[in-house]
Amino acid sequence: MSNSLPGIGAELARLKETSRERTLTLPRGIDFTSNDYLGFSRHPALREAAVAAVQEQGFVGAGGSRLLRGHHDAHEQLERFSAAFFRVEKALYMGGGFVANYTLFTTLAGRHDAVIFDERIHASVKEGIHASAAERYRVRHNDIEDFASAIRRARAQGARRIFVAVESVYSMDGDLAPLAELSELAHQNDAMLVVDEAHATGVFGATGRGLGEGLEQAHWISLHTCGKALGVFGALICAPAEIIDYLINKARPFIYSTAPPPHLAAAVERALRLVDEEPWRRQRALELARFAHEKLTPDAPFAGSQIIPMILGAEQHALNVANHLQQAGFDVRAVRPPTVPEGTSRLRISIHADHSEDEINALAATLDKARAAA
Ligand SMILES: Cc1ncc(COP(=O)(O)O)c(C=O)c1O
Repeated sequence: MSNSLPGIGAELARLKETSRERTLTLPRGIDFTSNDYLGFSRHPALREAAVAAVQEQGFVGAGGSRLLRGHHDAHEQLERFSAAFFRVEKALYMGGGFVANYTLFTTLAGRHDAVIFDERIHASVKEGIHASAAERYRVRHNDIEDFASAIRRARAQGARRIFVAVESVYSMDGDLAPLAELSELAHQNDAMLVVDEAHATGVFGATGRGLGEGLEQAHWISLHTCGKALGVFGALICAPAEIIDYLINKARPFIYSTAPPPHLAAAVERALRLVDEEPWRRQRALELARFAHEKLTPDAPFAGSQIIPMILGAEQHALNVANHLQQAGFDVRAVRPPTVPEGTSRLRISIHADHSEDEINALAATLDKARAAA
């Protein structure tokens, strides 16, 4: 008798046959895959901030939910600091971007509401929308007319609250949302624009506040994840005060969950200060991204960010090319469906401030060989 569950073995076999099986692989080789765009996860200042917080405050874990004894000085200080940093009324620190997106839509969007979302939006937003009772409108990627038409349809159906959900920098394509137009559209239609800045925070904006920096954000909720360019963990929901107060009262994943460890909140605050102290990092990352695009994917248009997709098509082909690169000492991974659409398996190459031109040239040379061999 099997000690597993009916159907599990067959599904795993199917994934293997279709080259969609995933296994865990430890980091090895030059990092062209992580979201540590600024090199913050290994930055001595962040390490010191985390260690000092543990030593001075004496806590490794928060010990409870934020509404009970799990609310610490470091959380409060981070939220105050981030609200000022991102120039919003209030911020709320959550234990991850996935849970933050899920929380936003399951808490704020109900039966009489509508969520209009870009077809390439992150899985965490999709999960949140699906778990909510709101009406869903899927819109063609970055198609402002399609967004406008979905808003009109939602209004015609009598939607109470209308949310427009986008990423500012798309995680698997590296391209940018037309935020100014979307913001204007939301404003004109009394809709709330929910901007996931996961891959823009720390990297984009005149001072690293994200792609939305400088835009009027009165009709915005933005999400800044802290485990990518900020190098730590968690996510900050930035919103009008009333919305944050409502989440504190109503958001089940916030209320019924242990708070993130306080030393991580301290490290996130340090990371935000570092964004101001070391602006060269984001400038270098974006400069190198353009260089890398010319070397790695000269035939494709530049998506505009530090995420460079190389679309290869079939799952097994993408795996073979990635494998070849890994053998040569480059940590590049293949991304396959369902993370990306059918037939668009790809390498997702991420460029970091601490890469060198030589490393990128070496990757480009190996890539040519890998594609020829795979
Ligand atoms: C666009 C986007 N939003 C949210 C998340 C989730 O963030 P976290 O890794 O902090 O849970 C990710 C990470 O994969 C992401 O790419």
